[in-house]
Amino acid sequence: MKTIAVISQKGGAGKTTIAVHLAVAAHLAGKTVALVDLDPQATARKWFDRREADIPEVIGDHAERLPQLMEMAEANGADLLVIDTAPNADRASLRAAKSADLILIPCRPAAFDLDAIETTRDLADLARKPSFVVMSAAPVRSALTDEARKGLEAKGTAVAPTVIHARVAFAHSVIDGRTAMEFEPDGKAAAEIRELCTWAFKQLGMPTVKQDRKLA
Ligand SMILES: Nc1ncnc2c1ncn2[C@@H]1O[C@H](COP(=O)(O)OP(=O)(O)O)[C@@H](O)[C@H]1O
Ligand SMILES: [Mg+2]
Repeated sequence: MKTIAVISQKGGAGKTTIAVHLAVAAHLAGKTVALVDLDPQATARKWFDRREADIPEVIGDHAERLPQLMEMAEANGADLLVIDTAPNADRASLRAAKSADLILIPCRPAAFDLDAIETTRDLADLARKPSFVVMSAAPVRSALTDEARKGLEAKGTAVAPTVIHARVAFAHSVIDGRTAMEFEPDGKAAAEIRELCTWAFKQLGMPTVKQDRKLA
């Protein structure tokens, strides 16, 4: 089993959006997936409550229980565990980072958000785990994202190749517990997530057998 932790001290960066979308995309790609929601605000859990499909399973818990949760998920045959975290860089986020094989740091390409990246990156470095910034809610057709990427890379921060743009499908689909893949399967939002998912699998050394699974 591989684990992806989605971490950023900044609220509204796109953590939960990316966590639930990645979890569903991995399921659609044929993986057995569970999502752990460590945020007391329980955004991912509430999304799951609104959701008609009962896959992927969303478990709300405390970071202290991550080892047991991971053991349980593995025993239940999970290929992938996605951890969504609260907007801070505290002990809980560090535990999530240490549990992960890959850390994704969603960040909007805006000055204040970019300024706040360093603390989260320090956390990932402290955990000694590979981490990548994922450009999130990026304006469509703007030089801002490229500039942000160059700025981050110049400071030695790795940035995932896929940019997640600001798209209505991301915000709209989660209202009734779905994702962009279910809301608009052939849309651009769904395509971006599939690309991010394939890239993440590659980072994790997970085989990607092309399987177009339907949701139960
Ligand atoms: N790529 C995107 N396109 C459109 N809206 C987005 C996108 N990413 C996030 N949002 C919206 O921004 C808000 C914050 O996103 P969320 O994923 O909850 O951030 P976080 O979990 O980091 O606090 C939500 O209302 C969400 O729907
Ligand atoms: Mg969140």
